[in-house]
Amino acid sequence: MESTRNKLIKLLAENDSNYISGQQLSDDLQISRAAIWKHMKKLEEDGYKIEGKTKKGYRIIEYPAKTSENTLQWGLQTNWLGKKIIHKTSATSTQHLAHKLASENAPHGTVVIADEQTEGKGRMNRSWYSSKNKGIWMSIILRPEILPYLAPQLTLLTATVIADVFDKQLGVTPQIKWPNDLLINQQKAAGILTEMQAEQDQIQYIVIGIGINVNHSIHDIPEELSEKATSLHIASNQERSIKDLIQQILQSIEPAYDHYIMNGFSDAKKKWESYGFKIGQEIKINTMKKSWIARFNGIASDGALLIENDDGQIQKMYSAEIDWFGGEEKNENKN
Ligand code: BTN
Repeated sequence: MESTRNKLIKLLAENDSNYISGQQLSDDLQISRAAIWKHMKKLEEDGYKIEGKTKKGYRIIEYPAKTSENTLQWGLQTNWLGKKIIHKTSATSTQHLAHKLASENAPHGTVVIADEQTEGKGRMNRSWYSSKNKGIWMSIILRPEILPYLAPQLTLLTATVIADVFDKQLGVTPQIKWPNDLLINQQKAAGILTEMQAEQDQIQYIVIGIGINVNHSIHDIPEELSEKATSLHIASNQERSIKDLIQQILQSIEPAYDHYIMNGFSDAKKKWESYGFKIGQEIKINTMKKSWIARFNGIASDGALLIENDDGQIQKMYSAEIDWFGGEEKNENKN
């Protein structure tokens, strides 16, 4: 059940910068005015700045900087994305929680966020290191009316949106390594994991998991990842507000998603290719069975990796890892 405190914050937030009278709050929340006053004092202790004026009532003039459902809702300019936000100080994985909520009918646009994950998941069953308050660990539940085979386009779209936020709003230009790794100076700063529940011709829901290393210093990156991973802080020497960045990302995903649903994938494909890492160059393709070198020609209209092999043949790849170093041996078999 939602606490009275949360209901109170919601009422104040809904009123934005307008005052709401003590009487109205007491009627809406069915508690005494003295109890309202006590809650206000508690909110102030939590870092909220509240203005109380006789005859006018109360309004919140400043939210604490920390991430919470209320601080994320405050000032979030979206129509449907993040209207329901679930924030946890700790979770095994926001993906797990999002799947559970989605199977219990959580609406399209529900967002699950954790300050830390104890079992963060990456692609290919890898683990995803998600230390407390250092990054964005977030899963978004979507219910798109598209055919299941098109779902990978949504992950590529999400990568382009995050790339645009880094580039245009934070001034840090990333590259996207197919399919969804965001690199800064050839080191990974963010990754996306998309999981889907679908029947043959219908998606029940998609969970898009977004992991972004934001405020890690070099010492916060585990040694085994130190060559491969970076953070926005390391790359730009600047700490960022996690809360503000989540809001910026949600505000950017919503219009991009709406545009995609209306107009299809072609604009996102162009954008993806503008950030694409190693396009036009040789890359190493790794599949379960073998590794080989090919030229990376960009992505196909369905989002597949397009490569040109030595014999000039163009091949579409749907599942592979690409690499750009240590690729001396051609056609080396893994079996
Ligand atoms: C990858 O690059 O391998 C994908 C990483 C995805 C990590 C995010 S963090 C939020 C969500 N919860 C998880 O457990 N994983 C995704």
